[in-house]
Amino acid sequence: MNVTGDGARAVSMPVEEEIARELDALKARQRYRVLPDIGARAGRFIEVGGRQLLNLSSNDYLGIGADRELLDSWLQRLEDSGLDAPAFTSASSRLLTGNHPLYGELERAIAGAYGSEAALVFNSGYHANTGILPALCNRHDLILCDRLNHASIIDGIRIAEAEYRRYRHADMDHLEELLDAATGRYRQVFLVTESVFSMDGDLVDLRRLVDLKKRYGAFLIVDEAHGVGAYGPKGLGLSEELGLSGDIDIVVGTFGKAFASAGAYAVMRGIFREYLVNTMRTLIFTTALPPVSVGWSLETFRRQLGMQEARAHLRVLSSKLRDGLRSAGFDVPGQSQIVPVVLGEDRNAVAMAGALRQEGFHALPVRPPTVPENSARMRFSLRADLLIEDIDALVETMVRRRP
Ligand SMILES: Cc1ncc(COP(=O)(O)O)c(C=O)c1O
Repeated sequence: MNVTGDGARAVSMPVEEEIARELDALKARQRYRVLPDIGARAGRFIEVGGRQLLNLSSNDYLGIGADRELLDSWLQRLEDSGLDAPAFTSASSRLLTGNHPLYGELERAIAGAYGSEAALVFNSGYHANTGILPALCNRHDLILCDRLNHASIIDGIRIAEAEYRRYRHADMDHLEELLDAATGRYRQVFLVTESVFSMDGDLVDLRRLVDLKKRYGAFLIVDEAHGVGAYGPKGLGLSEELGLSGDIDIVVGTFGKAFASAGAYAVMRGIFREYLVNTMRTLIFTTALPPVSVGWSLETFRRQLGMQEARAHLRVLSSKLRDGLRSAGFDVPGQSQIVPVVLGEDRNAVAMAGALRQEGFHALPVRPPTVPENSARMRFSLRADLLIEDIDALVETMVRRRP
């Protein structure tokens, strides 16, 4: 029962009572989340709860988001070019009036960089992943999905009409078994994976995956959300690094992480772009990103193509942190700029995050259900503007404040 403003008793709805119980249970299990009080960001620092902390939790892997000079020069050009207030809204879907010329420019730049026939820009990685599979698959298809794929991929699979199975994380033998069992039973088998996994920071065995795709005639989709910017000579992802972009049917990249903007893209053959434009609900039924945002994506995309030094430094930082923590006895899986430190019980991760905060580091604990039970962890996401000394200080603090 609730008591209303005038003192009368109102019957609470069952859903509200159940929600209140669930929230209490989350609090009791230390899994209750609140939106943090984030203030100004300055370079590699971020203000959290009124304190300046070293930011070890952003996906701005190249530090482009903190590049004031780049932003100023772009704003100046924007002003000179006469793009004005309407550029801050598209005011409709791309299929209506929202298709500003900057979209075409950005898509040509992306397709050109990948050497691909076509590219298509979306409002976010979430839109891309919840739209592509539902558009391409029908009920005569099978989707095979890595067990640790991002929630947006899982949600896309849920919406799609196809059957689906999950293979053990990064286990290509298991995937091969499932492909064998599927032979001849479906119109098309789709394989979908991340390249750099967001929670374990490990990499898919892309060579083997491409080999399986070819042998079984499967359609391969690779989400490079955490690969672009960090991998490949031009920052086009692990697929570029391994020279395999041309063997993947759809490569998805996002602008909200290393490219310091908002939105996402997919590169593919022209026929698939044409089909997605005609059928993909998360492209058709949403207001397009504002031109100002698309223009900034073009700017950061072009800029990052030449940021080899930053990519090399990011690798040095990642190896140094991993090596330092491993030699101190921490369980540190993976091999990328995402560095998880598995601490087991939820409370260990929460305590470590608190200790690091006291010492000036902002990094978040990741708990189930985002990761499997008893594998709560700290997750560091490194950025190329960090210094070697930052990593030394972090390792020293982790060792000293170990739970
Ligand atoms: C692997 C992966 N794919 C897709 C997304 C979603 O991208 P966006 O943030 O642009 O919606 C994320 C994270 O946000 C991700 O980690």
